[in-house]
Amino acid sequence: MKTAYCQNLLLKIFACAIILVPFASFSASEKTPNSIDGKEILTPAPKPQPRINGPLVYGCRPGHPFFYRIPCQGEKPISFTVKGLPKGLKLDPVTGIITGTVPTAGTYTLQIKAKNQKGKDSREFKIIAGEKLALTPPMGWNHWYAHYDRITDKMMREAADVMISSGMADVGYQYVNIDDCWMNAPKHNDPKRVGPLRDEQGNMIPNYYFPNMKGLTDYIHDKGLKAGIYTSPGTLTCGGFAGTWQHEEQDARQFAAWGFDFLKYDWCSYGSIAGKDKSLEAYQKPYRQMGSILKSLDRDMVFNLCQYGMGDVWKWGGEVDGHCWRTSGDLGFELDKIFDVALKNSEYRAYSKPGEWNDPDYIQIGWIGNASKMGVPELAPMPPAMQYAYMSLWCLMAAPLIYSGDMSKLDAFTLNVLCNPELIEVNQDPLGKCGNVIKQADNNFIMYKNMADGSIALGLFNRGKTDIEMTIDWSGINISGKHKVRDLWRQTDLGISDLKFSASVPAQGVVMIKISK
Ligand code: GLA
Repeated sequence: MKTAYCQNLLLKIFACAIILVPFASFSASEKTPNSIDGKEILTPAPKPQPRINGPLVYGCRPGHPFFYRIPCQGEKPISFTVKGLPKGLKLDPVTGIITGTVPTAGTYTLQIKAKNQKGKDSREFKIIAGEKLALTPPMGWNHWYAHYDRITDKMMREAADVMISSGMADVGYQYVNIDDCWMNAPKHNDPKRVGPLRDEQGNMIPNYYFPNMKGLTDYIHDKGLKAGIYTSPGTLTCGGFAGTWQHEEQDARQFAAWGFDFLKYDWCSYGSIAGKDKSLEAYQKPYRQMGSILKSLDRDMVFNLCQYGMGDVWKWGGEVDGHCWRTSGDLGFELDKIFDVALKNSEYRAYSKPGEWNDPDYIQIGWIGNASKMGVPELAPMPPAMQYAYMSLWCLMAAPLIYSGDMSKLDAFTLNVLCNPELIEVNQDPLGKCGNVIKQADNNFIMYKNMADGSIALGLFNRGKTDIEMTIDWSGINISGKHKVRDLWRQTDLGISDLKFSASVPAQGVVMIKISK
């Protein structure tokens, strides 16, 4: 049996000066070019026939408003049918958006079908109405690393538009999240962001650039997408804007009334409230409080803890009703840290499970702004090979997949990294496992993840500056006998082996495979 059959799997990816092709010139029906300005495009163009994507399981709370847009690639128009919809839900067959209310707790197994002129697809989808939300890692976009304190309602709406028009929503991206700086600040260099922090009733006042919060979430919801918002338990946020201190319940109810579906709760300036108390209870207190408030609302709101891992948050984030929590400080602009951040994050893999996700921060590729300068977006100085490694790691770790680049400048290369449905299946796998690491040498390691269907997703990562040959023996991942190997980035079958897999792995890059019986 020929076992080392991937000798020619050399990914010729070169970092070079980049002139971007705007996403508008890259549509589903066009053939994907193999490279753009020397950056190899690995993700095959979507086929014209429908392909239903997104999670296989979806959690919601009974009695709350329900809405879900079926992510589906393929030539439009696509028409949808769903069998097994529980009482209270209805499907719009043209948009594929399911809305309504699931009245009773339980597991509902649906059969979704999508059809267009070129073909059809179907898949099973489970709605689990109960206590848990975010049964698979949240996917979406957050404004922070693109727009910082320049964010406006207009930019948020534009991000929602692009999430649909670029095809991101068709592979599962769903949340459109405002970060800091939507409120007023006591002082700021833009006078239009300065003003009273609260009205006479104590309600937080959005700044000049957010004239109509309900209008904004309606706009996002009309597209079948969900909306996220940010605040901090302190008196001020990290950016120096109004915080939620002593208005926790009022703010949470306001966010729900505005129609938000996701809350990122930071820590900044709460430190001075917690004072010298470094006990576990002190770290937990604001999150426990907000977690129970959110749970009491009549709206599903995913709760994102952003306190950089203090007090080993991965051990108790779920207990305070959090759904995901940052395990480290800000990824910032020092993107060469991604391998170290990922290896650290994966040490907490035992705590990753459906509804409870370790979050190593956002996906920052494409056009992002220098974090230390809060700069305007420029092209991320990350070699293309490393961008594939970045996305592969976040998928293997079941990390929230939240893109944080400038949506108005999305280019074909970035979209190809963000939107490979076979990679995203690894991220959204219902078992919710975070990958295990096998260190092979200082500069290379393997991360592998057991999937619900019995297969194993595996990345061979090379941190070095030159391409290297890497091998994984089946015994190293506790399997034996014949297994199929599929290249996930290229979406091609590579062959069958009963012993091992070898590949040439590009400098600072990855070869990402799926191994199945
Ligand atoms: C902190 C968080 C970031 C971002 C900023 C906003 O630094 O970690 O993700 O939310 O605050 O000020």
